[in-house]
Amino acid sequence: MNFVLKGNICYSKTLQELEIKENSYLICEGGISKGVFSKIPDKYIGLPVTDYSDNIIIPGLCDLHIHAPQYTFRGLGMNLQLLDWLNTHTFVEESRYDDLDYADKAYSAFVEDLKLSAVTRASIFATLHTSATILLMEKLEKTGLITMVGKVNMDRNSSDILCEESPQKSYENTKKWIEEVIGKFKNTTPIITPRFIPTCTDELLTKLKELQKTYKLPVQSHLSESKKEIEWVKELYPDSESYGDAYNQFGLFGGKDTPTIMAHCVWSKDSEEDLLKNQDVYVAHCPQSNTNLSSGIAPIRRFLKRGIHIGLGSDVAAGCHTSIFRAMSDAIQVSKLYWRLVDQEDEPLTENEAFYLGTLGGGSFFGKVGSFDEGYEFDAIVIDDSSLATPYKSPQKLTIEDRLAKIIYFHNDNSIRGKYVRGNKII
Ligand code: GUN
Ligand code: FE
Repeated sequence: MNFVLKGNICYSKTLQELEIKENSYLICEGGISKGVFSKIPDKYIGLPVTDYSDNIIIPGLCDLHIHAPQYTFRGLGMNLQLLDWLNTHTFVEESRYDDLDYADKAYSAFVEDLKLSAVTRASIFATLHTSATILLMEKLEKTGLITMVGKVNMDRNSSDILCEESPQKSYENTKKWIEEVIGKFKNTTPIITPRFIPTCTDELLTKLKELQKTYKLPVQSHLSESKKEIEWVKELYPDSESYGDAYNQFGLFGGKDTPTIMAHCVWSKDSEEDLLKNQDVYVAHCPQSNTNLSSGIAPIRRFLKRGIHIGLGSDVAAGCHTSIFRAMSDAIQVSKLYWRLVDQEDEPLTENEAFYLGTLGGGSFFGKVGSFDEGYEFDAIVIDDSSLATPYKSPQKLTIEDRLAKIIYFHNDNSIRGKYVRGNKII
């Protein structure tokens, strides 16, 4: 696990600052980055060097929000909005994961493709089925990717084919699942996953907090994605200050010892944004999903100005594409529409900022992840961009920064030449 990679190395130091080191050496010792150097420092001379010549080396990408069981129906039902899409397609498809043979086939496809992608870390929703969730975790563990996986909880307002019998049953199954998987895997860990407020009773949310506390687990869910959903939450909790406040009343909204990811936050109001910021909740920005389901545009520039933590999510299958490079370009494009159509104070995102969101922005939810500065976990992707938008055939001279921008817009997984997770080479 001690080695050196040579190539053109790019990574974010902060939202504004992109570090570019041409023809340089990236040192890995014990799964940790020792930094980037133009010449190998004396104490590392003798370590094996892999020379990726003119390829570009970046930190692994992070998907903060993806639904594994939805992978197989991407691209279907895209004319519907959230609540109809859930009832017509999603719940029907997820109900099939009661059948382990079906789960085996579908999860194999998901896991194989995730392994070949530029993603090294992900926070994943499974379904409410315990056995299929364990199967998914076993498959993910074999890939070498580092993931958090949630058995989904839902005990009301769901369809007959996809609803847990009672809060007690949901709690018991979740406890059994946690006890079976906790400590079993090196790279795959459980995350508490109430689907969203409308499908979880008070009793269930109270019990999930109990489990979260007992086993010291993170939390993931959905927040303020669509207007109808928000109205529904308001009907269910008329006294709550906001949708986020409804989670917060059950202790499932960040704060000390409760690391939390909330997907979407398209329509968060001022007091909810305060809560996101004050409780250190991570927003998973899912621009493609928000476009496909006509949910809206999340005000990411405003969140950044407020200092809210943000990463990117594919939100498959409401988002059709698993690629986090695609999420970067989608984030840039929708931020331009937001600026033009909604608020001229909120300038569009740049390529470098979107790159930050897909690496260090989301990566920090996993610890020291998403950068190559000394001390970060060594997750790296090597990209051969020679076939992407023909950088070598173009008459103009492209800088490394230009090439990174082209990768954001044109990447495909066939251009990945190497993939390292915590120092282990998995491709
Ligand atoms: N809200 C509750 N469940 C879901 C889901 O599966 N996808 C999306 N996009 N939003 C949700
Ligand atoms: Fe989602």
